[in-house]
Amino acid sequence: MRTQVGIIGAGPAGLLLSHILHLQGIESVVLERHSRDDVEAIIKAGVLEQGTIDLMNEIGAGERMMKEGFRHEGIVLRFDGRDERIDFPSLTGGKSVMIYAQHDVIKDLIKARLDSGGDIRFESKDVSVYDLDSTEPKIRYRDKEGVVHEITCDFIAGCDGTQGICRPSIPAGVLKVYERLYPFGWFGILCKAPTSSDELIYSMHERGFALVSTRSPDIQRMYFQCSPTEKIDDWPDERIWEEFRARLATKDGWAPKEGQIFSKTVIGMRSLVVEPMRYGRLFLAGDAAHVVPPTGAKGLNLAASDAQILARALAAHYQSKRSDLLDQYSDTALRRVWKATRFSWWMTSMLHTFPGADEFQHRLQLAELNYVTGSRAGSTTLAENYVGLPIE
Ligand code: FAD
Ligand code: DHB
Repeated sequence: MRTQVGIIGAGPAGLLLSHILHLQGIESVVLERHSRDDVEAIIKAGVLEQGTIDLMNEIGAGERMMKEGFRHEGIVLRFDGRDERIDFPSLTGGKSVMIYAQHDVIKDLIKARLDSGGDIRFESKDVSVYDLDSTEPKIRYRDKEGVVHEITCDFIAGCDGTQGICRPSIPAGVLKVYERLYPFGWFGILCKAPTSSDELIYSMHERGFALVSTRSPDIQRMYFQCSPTEKIDDWPDERIWEEFRARLATKDGWAPKEGQIFSKTVIGMRSLVVEPMRYGRLFLAGDAAHVVPPTGAKGLNLAASDAQILARALAAHYQSKRSDLLDQYSDTALRRVWKATRFSWWMTSMLHTFPGADEFQHRLQLAELNYVTGSRAGSTTLAENYVGLPIE
């Protein structure tokens, strides 16, 4: 069979790309290795930038998000036992973020695709890509019944995340890889408890970073810095709550509202960018091309901006026979990717305790937090990056 754009991966990047293309009259086929139930259940991100909120609304997939999501107009930075708030609207010309779980974004996008006749092939196995530097790149895969299919495409979008097959299919030596590993991870929990705070709390503490987030009035999402090799079994619920109480304590005796913990995960932290985000007619988007540590809440949002930039370039190709935007795709996307990479690295460095760090380092981090929260210029830098920079 033939399609215009073959898309590997039904994460935020692949689904958004497929739906934006559909609205521009461009057909695509999405191949996803997991079942629909599985992709709709993976617990990941929760913070949508203003541009991602706007995109969901523009493509007609934002209705449930607007009803059930929570608009947050600021975050709290907690350090030295006190709270300092960064107010987004007053620092960014009215912008804010939305707390809405990634798996809900995925559910809404899958529904939008399928309701408009979209072709998503779940449980596609052994996906591989060929002839990437020809005008007819191809995808081969095995369906759930074991039958092998080949799809000839005009273009292929590699939206298959960090563990996908698209990036490794590019010949050795073509991509330059920039990477930074961090000597810690995050221990993430979901619990049944009332909301502890109206806004997210990013807490810097000598025992390590902690983050208070939320999913709904009765489900809370929280993280604390841990070793990258931390064992979940070493963390019974009471030990987890003790750690949160210690790292989140303020001079006024603040403590999180506790409840039954029903999910525990350890997440590794790294920064990675590959350049260019293209090889022949294969375009990489989202985590397939770059990974950020979660502190800046940027991963899903970068997947969304890549999808937007790529869709615009493909639309220019099909509607006006222009190749310039496709040729510029990698440079345009990478400008925004590197800014988000810098922001995520900066938030991570400012808020975490580095193994072996001395009191001098701790004092510098406190000074930086005092500067960021005490200066309008400092607060604006954080706010405008957090709500999301424009695509340039
Ligand atoms: P993915 O979501 O990884 O999707 C890729 C898809 O491709 C998957 O469905 C996968 O099954 C499929 N696939 C892979 N290989 C193949 C194959 N061979 N064949 C077919 N299909 C394949 N980001 C934020 O913006 N804000 C946050 O608050 C935030 N918090 C986070 C918290 C945690 C705990 C984690 C883990 C991540 C967080 N992120 C956050 C990052 C965000 O979740 C990712 O950056 C985002 O999922 C990237 O989207 P994607 O579409 O590029 O890739
Ligand atoms: C969440 C995740 C993040 O990485 C972050 O910076 C803020 C919130 C969350 O999952 O809610």
